[in-house]
Amino acid sequence: MYTPPPIAPERLPALLAAMPKAELHIHIEGSLEPEMIFALARRNGVDLAYDSVEALRRAYAFTDLQSFLDIYYAGASVLLHEQDFYDMARAYLARAAMQAIAHAEIFFDPQTHTARGVAMDTVVRGLHRACVDAQAQLGISSSLILCFLRHLSEEDAFATLEQATPLLEHIIGVGLDSSELGHPPEKFARVFARCRKLGLRLVAHAGEEGPPAYIWSALDVLKVERIDHGVQALHDAALMQRLARERIALTVCPLSNHKLRVFQDLSQHNLKQLLDAGLVATVNSDDPAYFGGYVNDNFTQVFAAVPQLTAQDAWQLAHNSFAASFAPEAQRRAWQDRLAESFETFARV
Ligand code: ADE
Ligand code: ZN
Repeated sequence: MYTPPPIAPERLPALLAAMPKAELHIHIEGSLEPEMIFALARRNGVDLAYDSVEALRRAYAFTDLQSFLDIYYAGASVLLHEQDFYDMARAYLARAAMQAIAHAEIFFDPQTHTARGVAMDTVVRGLHRACVDAQAQLGISSSLILCFLRHLSEEDAFATLEQATPLLEHIIGVGLDSSELGHPPEKFARVFARCRKLGLRLVAHAGEEGPPAYIWSALDVLKVERIDHGVQALHDAALMQRLARERIALTVCPLSNHKLRVFQDLSQHNLKQLLDAGLVATVNSDDPAYFGGYVNDNFTQVFAAVPQLTAQDAWQLAHNSFAASFAPEAQRRAWQDRLAESFETFARV
């Protein structure tokens, strides 16, 4: 186990920003900044319920997950053409590269778009082209994870998988998102089994607002490899032991948890307890355009709000982000070596 060199606490924010990291929980539709929503609405002749960027931003006062999702799906309605999906993903990847993100595994919600008559091909080709260009132009690696909307039926998820079948070479895995309460993972048992047979990697949102039982069933029924959010695991000691023992990563999103009132105050966030219990926790942005910041804002704000978090924790979180990624092992190790080098360099200067 690598022990990072001592870093003065006042240098922690700069270190958090500069250290290489992977982002494993970002909904690309949640990276649509209000300015881009208005620009795309104008370009595509889509009517919005808000008459200015400021009015839209003022509506970002969420009380829970559903109050956010209603606005998030409305924002995504401006996306119609392949170029729109390209522009959105390319803008996110440019910001990600600036935040020392070496690798991003990007969620997208095709049912939000296909339900409006946008073809699956349009969505996936636009996103994939942005990933290819960002690798060539910015040196950032990325892959795509198709998320099924859990408030819709499993039949709808099967139809979505069918539409995506010709495009699976561009998709590394599948996930499960949207309204959690009342839509337990087992609702999607058959479609996840099919995806597993197809060789897709599996993740699911569980234990964001929902109970620890949803994390158990995401693991046991869906057989997912990572849990998105998972912060409710702390209420179940047996589950905590299992997550630690099996090294199941949690993709934690501190600013999202705060804005959606999973924790009333960021200082109450349980990231430190998850790490201290030996869980493979990571820090991610979820929907950065809606929750007040990208991945480095998540790092710096949660470290400021929870002063028990140390430079060792920073290294562990970044190390975990590479360990838990779906990139090839040699690549993950190369990134982890770069991470250690960045800590050594930081300690010297
Ligand atoms: N879709 C976008 N963000 C989400 C979140 N935080 N939880 C569930 N579904 C989502
Ligand atoms: Zn999410």
